[in-house]
Amino acid sequence: MSELNNIAIKILEKGKGILAADESTGTMTKRLEDVNVTSTPENRLLFRETLFSSSSMTECIGGVILYDETIKQKSSKKNMIPELISKMGSYPGIKVDTGAKVLSGSPDEKITEGLDGLRERLKEYYQLGAKFTKWRGVYNISKNFPSKLSVHANANALARYSALVQECNMVPIVEPEVLMDGDHSADECYQKTSEVIKKCFEELILHKVDLKGIILKPNMILAGNKSNDKVSSEEVAKLTLKCLKNSVPSEVPGIAFLSGGQSEIEATENLNLINKYNNTNFIMSYSYGRALQQSALKFWSKDIQNIEGTQKVFNHRAKMNTLAAQGKWSKDLEI
Ligand code: 13P
Repeated sequence: MSELNNIAIKILEKGKGILAADESTGTMTKRLEDVNVTSTPENRLLFRETLFSSSSMTECIGGVILYDETIKQKSSKKNMIPELISKMGSYPGIKVDTGAKVLSGSPDEKITEGLDGLRERLKEYYQLGAKFTKWRGVYNISKNFPSKLSVHANANALARYSALVQECNMVPIVEPEVLMDGDHSADECYQKTSEVIKKCFEELILHKVDLKGIILKPNMILAGNKSNDKVSSEEVAKLTLKCLKNSVPSEVPGIAFLSGGQSEIEATENLNLINKYNNTNFIMSYSYGRALQQSALKFWSKDIQNIEGTQKVFNHRAKMNTLAAQGKWSKDLEI
């Protein structure tokens, strides 16, 4: 087994998932201000360190995606943050794209940037302890979108990124996110997501990326958030499995979903059913940002020194998702 394949499996084995704590400073500031906490480097660190030192880090969280600021910060016990995460038995990872910008040629769509100087930045992150990385491509659904240009350009960037990351001995998380925004049906989401994922793999193969050493981070197949199409969790699970079975090569060891604006319970329930019906060989787990942190952040914001209480809330959410990643969750386990 290759080293990268080994890391990818370790991150996701036994129901473990990924904590996406890689909000940029801008996004994190918005999240903190929404709960009336001032966004300072100290407060951002305090919340994140509270999560990273929770007991569920050992049992449930196989990897944590960090932002550039956090990977260079020290914990209150003077450990570097990646060191703290490794000590808890989890793998530190890092977001390496520099954000989605207007796509020239189709200005209503986005292209993710960050390839310039990436090889050098990757070396630095590896030295800081990162074992895996993340790059997010983002696609809108509407009648004409995503355009062929956006599908092609983002897949190409994801593949160039992945090749550089593997060259530097880290596991790339390949994240093509088809957004939930809009009034599209679940069927449209299925069609467009399939097209996006297939194109990504075409480019990954062209760039000679070792598919055994990546983790795919896709969206689930959902109806748009302004759609009248009411889709049950069973249908979400079945459409999601059908899409991935038809578009992801079998060498890929693991798939870790983003939550993409679903509520905490929705994201857990859908993941649980995906695992109940999983008829593939892929590990199907989670790489949630909002759906892992929302309740914990809300609780913490009421008293930012209440570390233990916040950890309890986070541990519960992590545990629920780890059960869901094994198809063992049920609603009555929620408190
Ligand atoms: P959400 O789970 O909040 O969608 O975040 C996951 C992520 O990493 C988006 O890039």
